Amino acid sequence: MVTSLAMEKLQAMARLDKKELGVRSQQLIPLPLPFSGELAQELLSTYGSPLYVYNGDRLRETIERITKAVSYPRTQFRFASVTNGNIALLKIFRSFRWGLHANTPGDIYLGLQAGFDPSEIVYSGSNLNRAEMLQVLNWGVTTLNLDSLAQLQLCCEVLPKHREKSIRLGLRLNLPEITGDSRIGMRPEEFGDAIALTREVGLKLSGLHFYRGTGTNATTAFTQVIDTVIATAQQLPDWEYLDFGGGFGYPYHHNKTAFDWEIFGAELTERITHLGRKIDLVIEPGRSAIAGCATLLAQVVSVKWQGEKQIVGVDSTVANLSVPSVHGGYREIVTWKQADNLHSLFTTDICGNTTYSRDYLGKNCQLPALEIGNIVAILDVGAYGYAMSSHFLHRPKPAEVLLENGTHRLIRRREDYSVLLTNQVL
Ligand SMILES: Cc1ncc(COP(=O)(O)O)c(C=O)c1O
Repeated sequence: MVTSLAMEKLQAMARLDKKELGVRSQQLIPLPLPFSGELAQELLSTYGSPLYVYNGDRLRETIERITKAVSYPRTQFRFASVTNGNIALLKIFRSFRWGLHANTPGDIYLGLQAGFDPSEIVYSGSNLNRAEMLQVLNWGVTTLNLDSLAQLQLCCEVLPKHREKSIRLGLRLNLPEITGDSRIGMRPEEFGDAIALTREVGLKLSGLHFYRGTGTNATTAFTQVIDTVIATAQQLPDWEYLDFGGGFGYPYHHNKTAFDWEIFGAELTERITHLGRKIDLVIEPGRSAIAGCATLLAQVVSVKWQGEKQIVGVDSTVANLSVPSVHGGYREIVTWKQADNLHSLFTTDICGNTTYSRDYLGKNCQLPALEIGNIVAILDVGAYGYAMSSHFLHRPKPAEVLLENGTHRLIRRREDYSVLLTNQVL
């Protein structure tokens, strides 16, 4: 049935006029598959479906490339684990002497479990309560970028006496002309109060933290503001470090321009080197370091046609990967089932295994006519993928697997239904 419908689609496509076909062919450049179809099959047979698959070799290459791009000698890379908290992956970052950027106490907890020294963890978060602030300090974290006078005051209040010498305090910058309408950070006009507050208790403000906003692919959005950020940092009399944050983009549309680490690294190095003072540079890449290193595999469980459109049901759900549907992000989807030619590709929705109205993993993808049992691969899910998965819709979460040196190993077990009872008082 599907096959004859597919034939009809094929004939319909063949009737399209030349101009339209030309546009389609330009758009439909075949995407590279993340690995062989045999391996995809082997992974699903071994670990089950759906499955997060990380490419450790690719992750290492990416880390190396980013590290090399910023040649300034006093640079400290801190991976933003908000994007991915898997311990096995965090250990890979550690093996490259990267530290960790923590958005929350939970990020710090995971970082410590992965073996990071507290001095290699930078906390740049928001709105901790008293107990949490104390916990962060008791864990031994030395660099804290605080985003309000109230948080700075709380930190100064609860800081144990013996930590005063080792602590590095910074302010998160809020500059509406650059960061737009953001709730986070402090404006330069508050710096005076912040300096007075810290000096009163014998501490100094030595850092400025800047965050451009996540997923920015335009390199100039960063390079154009370097001078302004540095000029603002110079308003801090005890300035010793600049944290240039994260936010560096990843080209989820494979045919679009990517953030250029080499240009960014060269410009930032040039500007800081010529400051005439020894400033430490902290960089906290998240998405750009890990997005491209993972694939979510799922298997087709149902195919139907609604007019010209192919509706494919898979054994995964929006709760396993929320970004494309809930947050409007785009992810390329590929399959090992080859199309005979570009005209046997069909507009396809890849739908999750619930009736939730937003349960889509991809919309309007161009894919061949699929069959039950085919495998689809959702690309570039390493950042904000598993980390944003949830138990919404009450489906246990998938397993995670790491490919390295031609082998694969489990790095997080698949959940079973018992997880749905965790902490419930029966
Ligand atoms: C302060 C800070 N640094 C780095 C990151 C990582 O951002 P990205 O994944 O866009 O690089 C975040 C994300 O929330 C952040 O808040």
